Amino acid sequence: MSDRTTGDRVDLGPADRFPPGQPHAVRAAGRDLLVVARGEEFFAIRDACPHQGARLSAGLVCGHVEDCLPGQEPTYTREGELVTCPWHGWKLDLRTGRSIIDPETVRVKRYPIQVEKGHLFVEMS
Ligand code: FES
Repeated sequence: MSDRTTGDRVDLGPADRFPPGQPHAVRAAGRDLLVVARGEEFFAIRDACPHQGARLSAGLVCGHVEDCLPGQEPTYTREGELVTCPWHGWKLDLRTGRSIIDPETVRVKRYPIQVEKGHLFVEMS
């Protein structure tokens, strides 16, 4: 998908071109991004896994199974807020770009993104 750039702000086109719950590979201002819609929310992170560089846009948008004790029913939460890398399965939080395994040091850049007048804009600064 191409973009229209004005300064650090890039118009990615009509927001309804991004069906929710699916990974979308986007090229904006010379950088590869993963864009995901979740209802009325949108997320944008760098499209490169911090482990060995796989394209996260080839991964699965998913949720998280909370830790539980033996015999307890596992709880599935945060549907549509994480992406699983297609190569080795690391999970990244789409809201923050931080990994689940080591959120302080293993992460990717997150870009602010919002809808205005039906178009999706991402801030690249
Ligand atoms: S390249 Fe993503 S988990 Fe290994």
